[in-house]
Amino acid sequence: MGAATKLLRQEHQAIRDVLNFAEGVSVRIERGEQALPEVLTKVTDFFRRFVDQCHHHKEEDIFFPTLEKKGISASGGPLSVMLMEHERARGLIQELSEAAEAYGTDGEISGKAWARAAWDYSGLMQEHFGKEEEVLFRMADNILSPEEQVAVAADFERLEREKIGPGKHEQLEAMMNRLIAQNGKR
Ligand SMILES: [Fe+2]
Repeated sequence: MGAATKLLRQEHQAIRDVLNFAEGVSVRIERGEQALPEVLTKVTDFFRRFVDQCHHHKEEDIFFPTLEKKGISASGGPLSVMLMEHERARGLIQELSEAAEAYGTDGEISGKAWARAAWDYSGLMQEHFGKEEEVLFRMADNILSPEEQVAVAADFERLEREKIGPGKHEQLEAMMNRLIAQNGKR
C-alpha cells in the first residue's frame, strides 16, 4: 500500500466511526428518543467539512486526475461512478444540514428527516468506500510508483491546509471522538 492510498484508507476508517455513530443516533431518534441538537449539527458539520471538503476533494482534485494521467478513463469507468456518488453524497449533506437546522425549532419532524438522510448517507458512503478500497485503491497501488504515491500524499496535505486550514483535520477528528465518547452507547 502506498503513502497516498494509505492516507485515504485511514480517513475512510475515521469516517466509518462517525457513520456508525450517526446510525446509532438515527436508531434512537426513530425510537422516539430526543437527541441533543448539537449532536446533529456537529455530525453534519463533520460530513461537510471533513468528508466532503477535505476527503472527497483530495480524490477529485488530486487522486482521480493522477489516475487519469496514468490511463484510467474518466468516463464510463470506476472514476465516473465515484464522482457521481460524491455528488449524491453532497445532496444528502444538504438534506442533513437543513434537517439539523430545523431540528432546534420543530423537533420530531426534522429529527426523523435527519435520521432518514443519515441512513441514506451512511449506506451510500459505506458502499462507496468499499468500492474505492477494493477496486480503485488496488489499481492505484499497482500503477503508481512509491515516489508518485509520496508526491500525491504531499499534495493532499497542501490541499487540506488550503481547504480547511492547518490543524483542522485533527481538530475535527478529536471533536468527533469526544462527541462519540459522550453520546455513543446508551
Ligand atoms: Fe470517494
